[in-house]
Amino acid sequence: MLRAPAAPKSLYRHRNRHTGGERVTRTATRDNGRVTEQTQGAWADPGDDLVVRMSEVAVRRGRNELLSGVNWDVELDERWVVLGANGAGKTTLLRLAAAEMHPTTGAVDLLGERLGRVDVFELRPRIGFCSAALAGRVPPDETVRDVVVSAGYAVLGRWREEYDTLDHNRAEELLGVLGIAHLAERQFGTLSEGERKRTLIARALMTDPEMLLLDEPAAGLDLGGREDLVARLSWLAQDPDAPATVLVTHHVEEIPPGFTHLLLLKDGQTVASGLLEDVLTSENLSKTFGQELRLERSGQRYFAHRAA
Ligand SMILES: Nc1ncnc2c1ncn2[C@@H]1O[C@H](COP(=O)(O)OP(=O)(O)O)[C@@H](O)[C@H]1O
Ligand SMILES: [Mg+2]
Repeated sequence: MLRAPAAPKSLYRHRNRHTGGERVTRTATRDNGRVTEQTQGAWADPGDDLVVRMSEVAVRRGRNELLSGVNWDVELDERWVVLGANGAGKTTLLRLAAAEMHPTTGAVDLLGERLGRVDVFELRPRIGFCSAALAGRVPPDETVRDVVVSAGYAVLGRWREEYDTLDHNRAEELLGVLGIAHLAERQFGTLSEGERKRTLIARALMTDPEMLLLDEPAAGLDLGGREDLVARLSWLAQDPDAPATVLVTHHVEEIPPGFTHLLLLKDGQTVASGLLEDVLTSENLSKTFGQELRLERSGQRYFAHRAA
């Protein structure tokens, strides 16, 4: 039986307005291998709550329009699901939000910075990104602990020794929250698909990001693995101190309770977006997947099937 772990408050230094806590902006800069940390005060104005703003965004590759006419705002206390068929443009949208690519036209603002005007290497450490492409880049002989803790090193470069202990403690806590503390010494290559996904989510959280982006984290999991992950993502979503989160999926069954907003994508365009309760309907799902679908709800979970 799974029990919700109490997420240690120290996990999230970027506390948000729910807790009335001060916002700490940790800006890591590499300066000849030295790292400096800057701390800023409380949220200045409501505009600061915006972590993503996309305005009339299009992405083109040759003749292909991967995205077009996308307008999307994500605020720091929101938990978004991006849903669409294979090829709808979900990963492209997420890579824009991760500062991994630029729009062909339109504007993308991330954490108050305009893509194209900011050094993406300063922006990326503030964003936790978890994708299948990343999983493929992890050396199979790396231990779970190192996969997680090295996210901190990658961001911070050479770090003072006393922070090593802090980083290791944080990695330990995150492994606990994701339910894989017992696997800390295991090699990544020996893990099951579900354990890999959880390791990479812990890694994405390691840098204490202001935004967490998850590209199909439940893909390839068996029923038990999916349910375990959905439960953990649900706890994360309901923690007011957790970062703004965007979860990409193509199954309504994978929507964790606690997610608040939904963006439906089809052929690179928005079908509908807004509050999950309003947007997730049989009609909108049918438009998104191009066939008559019926949405069913069971408690806080959803499932869908072709209309008979
Ligand atoms: N570099 C590229 N050049 C041309 N087409 C691409 C490129 N990258 C992705 N695509 C196409 O763009 C569409 C959207 O891709 P993607 O964002 O990965 O969709 P999703 O994640 O929703 O499955 C797909 O049809 C894909 O084949
Ligand atoms: Mg994809």
